[in-house]
Amino acid sequence: MSSRRPSPSADGAVGRLAPLERPPWSPWGREYVNTPDRFIWGTRPSALAREATELTADGARVLDLGCGEGRDSVFLAEQGHDVVGVDLSLDGLRKAQHLAADRGVRVPWVCAALPDLPLRGPFDLVYSCGSIHYVARDARGALFARLRGLTRRGGHHAHVVFTERRIYREKSEVVHYFTPDELRDAYRGWIILRHEEGLIPCAQDGVRHVHSVETLLAERP
Ligand SMILES: C[S@@+](CC[C@H](N)C(=O)[O-])C[C@H]1O[C@@H](n2cnc3c(N)ncnc32)[C@H](O)[C@@H]1O
Repeated sequence: MSSRRPSPSADGAVGRLAPLERPPWSPWGREYVNTPDRFIWGTRPSALAREATELTADGARVLDLGCGEGRDSVFLAEQGHDVVGVDLSLDGLRKAQHLAADRGVRVPWVCAALPDLPLRGPFDLVYSCGSIHYVARDARGALFARLRGLTRRGGHHAHVVFTERRIYREKSEVVHYFTPDELRDAYRGWIILRHEEGLIPCAQDGVRHVHSVETLLAERP
C-alpha cells in the first residue's frame, strides 16, 4: 500500500482511507488488528456522544477526534449529523467503515495524527472521547486554539480526557495526562455547560482498573 497523506476534498473532508507517512505509535492500532471479529470499544455510543447530540441541532457538522472503530461517529451520523471521523489508526478506521456500512450511514474517515488536522471548518460540534491526552502537552494549546477556530458561533465542544489524579499505564501506551484546570483553561471565554471529574472503569489489559478523567462540554459564545 502506498504511503501518502490524505488530501482534503473541497469541503475539507477525505472520503477515502489513506495511511500516514510516519504515524506516531499507539497500541490501539495493534489492538484493532488483533480483534478483527469484535469492536474493542463496542458498537454502542458512549454516554458523552449521547449527551453531545442533545446539544446539537439536526444536520450539524461534527468532528470526532480519535474516533477509533467509529462507535460514536456512526451514532452521531445516525442522528442525522454530517460527521467526519479522524484517527491515526487505519485499521481502526477500516472497522469504522464496516460499522458505518452495516448501519447504513456515510461517514468520511480521515487518517491523521493529531495535532495535525488536514480539515477545514466550520464545525457545529467538535468531539473527542479519550483521545486528546495522546497529544503532547506542549502541542495542546495550539491544537485547542485551532479547534476553537474551526467552530461556528453557538457551536459546541465535548471532550473526555485522562487526568493525572490516577495514573494507570496499559498496553505500554504513552499518555500525556491533563493537569488540573488545563482543559477548563482551554475554554476561557466560552460558556462552560458541564465540567466534571470522574473515574471510568476499564479492563482492556485484562485487569479491572479505573482511569481518572475530566469531562467538559462548552459552547462558543
Ligand atoms: C481510547 S481510544 C478511543 C476511541 C473512540 N474515541 C471511542 O471512544 O470508541 C483512543 C483513540 O485515539 C487514537 N489516537 C491516539 N493518538 C492519536 C493521535 N495522535 N491522533 C489521532 N488519533 C489518535 C487511537 O488510535 C484510538 O483509536
